[in-house]
Amino acid sequence: MHSLLSSSLFVSLFLIHFTFATTYTDPSKLPNTQYDYIVVGAGTAGNVIANRLTESSKIKVLVIEAGAARDGNPQLDIPLLAPQLSPDTAYTWNYTTTPQPGLNNRVIQYPRGKIVGGTSSINWLFWTRGAADDYNRIAQVTGDPGWSWLGLMPYMYKNEKLTPPADGHNTSGQITPSLHGKNGPLEISVYGYANELDDKVVQTTKELSSDFPYNQDQNSGNPLGIGFLQASIGGGKRSSSASAYLEPVLNRSNLDVLLQTTVTKVIQTGKTGDIPIFRGVQFAQSSSGPLYALNATKEVILSAGSINTPQILMLSGIGDAKALQSLGINPVLDLPDVGKNLQDHSLLSNLFEVNSNNTFDNIFEDAAVAGADLNQWETNKTGLFVDTLGNNVGWLRLPQNDTIFQKVSDPTAGSKSPHYELIMCDGWASIADPHPGTGHWMTLVTNLISPTSRGSVTLASIDPFAAPIIDAGLLNSDFDIYTMKQAIKSAQKFLTGSAWKDYIVAPYAPLGNVTTDAELEQYARNHTTTVWHPVGTAAMSACDAAHGVVDPDLNVKGTIGLRVVDASIFPYIPGAHPQAPLYMMAERAADLIKAGTQLCYWYDRLFWWLHW
Ligand SMILES: Cc1cc2nc3c(=O)[nH]c(=O)nc-3n(C[C@H](O)[C@H](O)[C@H](O)COP(=O)(O)OP(=O)(O)OC[C@H]3O[C@@H](n4cnc5c(N)ncnc54)[C@H](O)[C@@H]3O)c2cc1C
Ligand SMILES: *[C@@H]1O[C@H](CO)[C@@H](O)[C@H](O)[C@H]1NC(C)=O
Ligand SMILES: *[C@@H]1O[C@H](CO)[C@@H](O)[C@H](O)[C@H]1NC(C)=O
Ligand SMILES: *[C@@H]1O[C@H](CO)[C@@H](O)[C@H](O)[C@H]1NC(C)=O
Ligand SMILES: *[C@@H]1O[C@H](CO)[C@@H](O)[C@H](O)[C@H]1NC(C)=O
Ligand SMILES: *[C@@H]1O[C@H](CO)[C@@H](O)[C@H](O)[C@H]1NC(C)=O
Ligand SMILES: *[C@@H]1O[C@H](CO)[C@@H](O)[C@H](O)[C@H]1NC(C)=O
Ligand SMILES: *[C@@H]1O[C@H](CO)[C@@H](O)[C@H](O)[C@H]1NC(C)=O
Ligand SMILES: *[C@@H]1O[C@H](CO)[C@@H](O)[C@H](O)[C@H]1NC(C)=O
Ligand SMILES: *[C@@H]1O[C@H](CO)[C@@H](O)[C@H](O)[C@H]1NC(C)=O
Repeated sequence: MHSLLSSSLFVSLFLIHFTFATTYTDPSKLPNTQYDYIVVGAGTAGNVIANRLTESSKIKVLVIEAGAARDGNPQLDIPLLAPQLSPDTAYTWNYTTTPQPGLNNRVIQYPRGKIVGGTSSINWLFWTRGAADDYNRIAQVTGDPGWSWLGLMPYMYKNEKLTPPADGHNTSGQITPSLHGKNGPLEISVYGYANELDDKVVQTTKELSSDFPYNQDQNSGNPLGIGFLQASIGGGKRSSSASAYLEPVLNRSNLDVLLQTTVTKVIQTGKTGDIPIFRGVQFAQSSSGPLYALNATKEVILSAGSINTPQILMLSGIGDAKALQSLGINPVLDLPDVGKNLQDHSLLSNLFEVNSNNTFDNIFEDAAVAGADLNQWETNKTGLFVDTLGNNVGWLRLPQNDTIFQKVSDPTAGSKSPHYELIMCDGWASIADPHPGTGHWMTLVTNLISPTSRGSVTLASIDPFAAPIIDAGLLNSDFDIYTMKQAIKSAQKFLTGSAWKDYIVAPYAPLGNVTTDAELEQYARNHTTTVWHPVGTAAMSACDAAHGVVDPDLNVKGTIGLRVVDASIFPYIPGAHPQAPLYMMAERAADLIKAGTQLCYWYDRLFWWLHW
């Protein structure tokens, strides 16, 4: 998708330059030396924490962010151009994976957002909560009912602001408004520009209803079936943690934001009994630049994301002690699971040539068409550019009697949690294969949602400015490749509906050339990439669990003064694109931090006292 539109179109549109009274780009200019809380990373979760903690004017917060402020580039706001924001742009950490054995040893680009808003400023805007089962499993494995679907429900409403679609169409039957927040910061909506797949999709849910039932609102706790996608879009524009949570509160005098500054480690500032206290942060603007340090009086909150949070922990001596020692880092706390347990969703774009002259491909093939669509978005935020890729998605399960379950126990959280996802995209939507420059297409994306394979983040170097080693573990188990193949077969079955009969011309090669199961497997391994949903690298576990990195209150186990709030805390990847799960969990985390909750610490003391 990165070939979409030349960037010169945008030069004239760099009109607005944001200047914020309380943002700093020079650490020596910070107005305060004392902060109650220091938040590391102005990303998706970090901005929720910064916003909620500074609601009380008595609380002073510093946010330190490696990236820059949003620069007014309209690409950051235009939903359809989201794919242009990564990989390898001014707004990203340009990571790559190790060669992936499950993908015939291909190396996959692995961007994260490096900008205010973090990855929420560059992601593809899908708004999916996942299944109630996913949260109930987290509650069960952590022993904290606060993480259950019902426990989190108030936070779903607190986070969301349901907005009308950009085209103002009647959304009756496409979403259930009562399931959504109306007054939260983060704007969501269904599609605002109908495409020619929409009716065909709905017709197929009627015709093949036992395999592909229609689901009016997949964010009800039961996502299964086919429905209309909700997205973090309001009035045809991206809604992110930058636009919704941070920028609107920058005028609070108790909030300072330090940009273009990288936290290089957290520092132990003392001990309570045997327990190390980590209230210090060290930061710098380049590997050769001066080092700065500050202490929080209350807590340091790591919100640097699933790649950089474990990196910072390991650089600080918190991680697998043996591995740290071998790099020359003095281990302070032996927590072997730091950086382990990485889970991600594998993505495969299945392409089909269609009998139409009217697909989104026209904007790839004709600059004048693209210009007119852009102009319309500029004029009144309507038209093709208001949506992300795909108006419809499906969340589906393997059949209960599938033979795979004789070998592998079902990795999902429960009977309403999906094994795979289908995304119906008008036009060519592939990361693995560039647009051919001609033709009209549709894309039926198959995503593996319940992987059993696990990856990791490890340090390549003790230089905090060096990229860590990322193994995404894509399609790296028998279950994962099997399920991806079943998902492709399911996508093919979906297209047997009569609505597609005169529409689909042929599957694009090499899918079109696949005849055997072995070829299907090779096709999947050759063309799969990722949805970039890494989670789990600082996973939550119960107070008394030896595994895991953070306790149910998100304190780093065995420390005081240090919490993690970002996508690394998920013990299991949710059956969803993770931003909506993360926003609601960050909203609850803000309440835990405000309350100073440290239940495990007190259980531990109590246990010690009773024992004694
Ligand atoms: C291309 C792409 C598309 C995606 N599409 C979707 C989608 O459509 N729907 C969905 O639900 N999810 C999507 N995701 C995933 C989702 O956006 C992420 O899971 C989520 O935003 C992660 O939030 P976070 O708070 O964990 O981390 P981030 O939002 O990445 O925030 C981390 C922040 O910390 C900063 N930081 C990192 N290291 C340091 C340091 N040492 N010092 C200071 N600051 C630091 C970073 O610059 C960043 O701003 C997508 C991801 C990608 C990459
Ligand atoms: C990523 O690549 C882009 C384009 O080359 C570059 O502008 C940007 O600085 C790089 N980001 C990082 C963190 O190196
Ligand atoms: C939207 O459509 C529904 C169902 O067709 C109808 O009952 C409702 O009145 C419509 N709403 C508006 C505002 O037209
Ligand atoms: C900040 O700006 C918002 C919006 O203009 C306003 O509602 C709020 O009162 C302001 N807050 C402060 C502390 O000035
Ligand atoms: C942080 O606290 C430690 C331990 O009390 C102290 O040695 C250090 O000087 C403090 N750092 C700053 C910048 O105040
Ligand atoms: C697409 O355009 C060509 C050339 O104008 C025309 O022959 C063809 O019938 C059109 N196809 C459809 C599906 O409209
Ligand atoms: C928005 O602008 C386009 C032209 O650019 C026009 O066709 C359309 O009717 C306008 N829509 C609204 C809701 O004003
Ligand atoms: C699973 O059950 C379905 C219907 O109940 C049946 O058609 C199918 O053959 C069964 N599959 C296996 C592998 O037993
Ligand atoms: C697919 O098969 C056709 C016909 O045999 C062949 O021409 C084409 O090169 C094949 N494409 C690929 C990608 O293998
Ligand atoms: C997969 O890729 C390998 C190596 O590039 C190639 O030899 C093989 O033909 C490909 N298979 C399919 C089905 O695409």
